[in-house]
Amino acid sequence: MVFSVLTWRKPRRSTPDPIRDVPGVLGSPGVSDDVSDDVCNGFSGDVPEVPPVDVAAAEDYLGLFHAENPGAGVLRERLREVRQEIARTGTYTHTPDELIFGARVAWRNSGRCIGRLYWRSLRVRDRRHVTTAEGVAVECVNHLRDAAPNRRIRPTITVFPPDRPGAPGPRIWNEQLIRYAGYARKDGSVVGDPRYTDFTATLRELGWAGGQGSPFDVLPLAISMGDGPPLLSTIPGDAVLEVALSHPVHPWFERLGLRWHAVPVISNMCLEIGGICYRAAPFNGWYMGTEIGARNLADADRYDLMPVIARHMGLDTESDRSLWRDYALVELNVAVLHSFERAGVTMTDHHTESRHFLMHLEREEKEGRVCPADWTWIVPPISAAATPVFHRYYEDRLLSPNFVHHPDSLARALGHRTATGG
Ligand code: ARG
Repeated sequence: MVFSVLTWRKPRRSTPDPIRDVPGVLGSPGVSDDVSDDVCNGFSGDVPEVPPVDVAAAEDYLGLFHAENPGAGVLRERLREVRQEIARTGTYTHTPDELIFGARVAWRNSGRCIGRLYWRSLRVRDRRHVTTAEGVAVECVNHLRDAAPNRRIRPTITVFPPDRPGAPGPRIWNEQLIRYAGYARKDGSVVGDPRYTDFTATLRELGWAGGQGSPFDVLPLAISMGDGPPLLSTIPGDAVLEVALSHPVHPWFERLGLRWHAVPVISNMCLEIGGICYRAAPFNGWYMGTEIGARNLADADRYDLMPVIARHMGLDTESDRSLWRDYALVELNVAVLHSFERAGVTMTDHHTESRHFLMHLEREEKEGRVCPADWTWIVPPISAAATPVFHRYYEDRLLSPNFVHHPDSLARALGHRTATGG
């Protein structure tokens, strides 16, 4: 039975689970009458307009696919087939090989990603046959389990049905499959991740009872078909790989009770291949330590931990020139790398990854390709000039296939109101 995969299993944490009484699927507000369009965050359930596929975009992609995969058959024949299918239906269907290659090249073309050396190794889970929100939720959970067997993380993407004219595909509202709730308190402070206070509030309005109120409560998934109302679904504890943070030297660090999830699965970006929009195509790599240690836990508008750590280190936080922030950042990043290593969970560091990125760039240039790169994203947020990626410029170009943001998905993931459609 489809729901069994989502049935709540005992989380690894021993704390009581406040939503243990409900099965994994919490239900859809679409079936309850006390939910108005208003609480659906501006999403009325209207069918969004999906325009017919741009024939030129399809042709460009098929040309690329055949150029880089000479054994793939006769391009001319495939083009004829695809043109006919578009004329008949307004869209076309990628072969499994076209989908796999398209997803890998979308990663290769992602100018903001430093980890692209491994683009050929992306595992593609073709789930284009899954047509219900429940099915999508089940496969998202399966993705989480499948992407990190024995704590070894494998770059993985799960591709759900694309948008078709008259039949929009599924949407995963969450920005990532695993993210922590942010509970806004009356005094303006936040328990949890402040980035998600509005999204958390939206989920509460949609029927989520809330978690235990810890700083690291995993949010449920919200999945809709097209712009319809979402199904909420808790993620079983065994699918949420997390690492508790400790420091190799400072015993007080562990007592801060910090943790982070191990697998970053971006779930609100659109995989665009040859004019086709796969709006639900969650994908993951593994973390680079600085993403957690220098951003998620450190940014003033996220967990804002630099002052806390500096205080424990006994630093002078009155003067900027004591460089207390810098000392605190380094120790936080030491703790992140140390903890993942100790837990046997895949993670890279910014020095290694910078070198790997330049290797990738060189390889791409040897292949005669442009490697688009956005300096502001590639350069790590600490010790920038101590890494080789700092000391040069890059060409940045928007190439296709790619992962793109649609404004409505961006807004939904942060719990912001928006007009329907993308
Ligand atoms: N920076 C995001 C986060 O901290 C994750 C982005 C993707 N990162 C990755 N290593 N694949 O959650």
